[in-house]
Amino acid sequence: MTIIVTGGAGFIGSNFIFHMMEAHPDYRIICLDKLTYAGNLSTLAPVLDKENFRFVKADICDREAVYTLFEEEKPDIVVNFAAESHVDRSIEDPGVFLQTNVLGTGVMMDACRKYGITRYHQVSTDEVYGDLPLDRPDLFFTEETPIHTSSPYSASKAAADLLVLAYHRTFGLPVTISRCSNNYGPYHFPEKLIPLMIANCLAEKPLPVYGEGLNVRDWLYVTDHCRAIDLIIHNGRVGEVYNIGGHNEMRNIDIVRLICQQLGKSEDLITYVTDRKGHDMRYAIDPAKIHAELGWLPETKFADGLKKTIQWYLDNRDWWEPIISGEYRDYYKKMYENR
Ligand code: NAD
Ligand code: DAU
Repeated sequence: MTIIVTGGAGFIGSNFIFHMMEAHPDYRIICLDKLTYAGNLSTLAPVLDKENFRFVKADICDREAVYTLFEEEKPDIVVNFAAESHVDRSIEDPGVFLQTNVLGTGVMMDACRKYGITRYHQVSTDEVYGDLPLDRPDLFFTEETPIHTSSPYSASKAAADLLVLAYHRTFGLPVTISRCSNNYGPYHFPEKLIPLMIANCLAEKPLPVYGEGLNVRDWLYVTDHCRAIDLIIHNGRVGEVYNIGGHNEMRNIDIVRLICQQLGKSEDLITYVTDRKGHDMRYAIDPAKIHAELGWLPETKFADGLKKTIQWYLDNRDWWEPIISGEYRDYYKKMYENR
């Protein structure tokens, strides 16, 4: 079995590659990644020399490069993680989100049609469903919830999902889609809430909480997401969407307080800053379908996962400190100074 994993030098893609190399040592895994600011080849160091692994630096929008790779490798399965993934960046500069997330997905599916595959899997997000109100804890996103996006990021992911479903209906492409809630864990890029707060806390820098910090996210440890995708690509029904989430809703402010407590830092570091434009209030996944059909359940409880994650950032400063000392500094200044 040969699998192309796009975006495998990023947060979830790299964790997925590690999971697959361990769970299926007989598979050949090819990582195709452009190495944008969010991709880091050093993350893949543990597998780079393995015989059944290949890394290819390429853009999913580059049709020629993608077709050449398909000709060389004749993949059975394609799992598309490659995307611009940060909501705040999509508010600053939407163009690259449309390019990679929509047009890039189109190129990958064209390649699948041209060369033939047994499965194309699109890694999507719960953000395509928009948000839920805080005063209706009885409501959850199901696979039937209408698409209703808020940010250029979520709109681009929703557009990609629709394109994937259209290629299934029109051309019979064997596709599946997963829509997961917020992930956390090792190799999470420090622009996102949890690693940003850990890094700032360790440096005793202000902890920038948007608005009042009351927004709710449904957090899932990254390896639980990876196991779910493994199940879907092998046993999921073609043409279907699967929601992934572990009923673990947390308010942002409570997560930031927990991080302060675990690192022994003062909550006085917490600084309320201007809210994100169009900020989604609450995400909450109903994972009944993937549980009933594929037997998936999350394994990592949030308290354990957060502890493991904090420990990972303490033990792996050589991974994230270079990231936040480079061009990320300009990004941070632009997004947070005078906010
Ligand atoms: P990430 O930003 O950490 O990594 C994205 C990776 O894609 C990077 O390695 C980057 O170099 C690569 N990439 C970007 N543009 C590319 C292009 N044009 N061609 C090839 N490679 C390119 O993202 P992540 O958080 O790991 O998210 C991965 C996927 O999962 C995304 O599709 C995202 O929408 C989805 N998702 C993320 C979460 C989450 O909580 N992080 C939750 C649900 C779904
Ligand atoms: O739900 C899945 C989505 O989760 C994925 O599709 C996205 O790729 C991923 O980035 C994530 O999106 P969010 O916008 O929910 O994640 P983020 O870590 O950026 O923010 C989490 C919450 O924390 C959100 O309510 C905004 C808030 N926040 C974030 C940052 C970076 C802050 O209060 N302060 C911050 O500095």
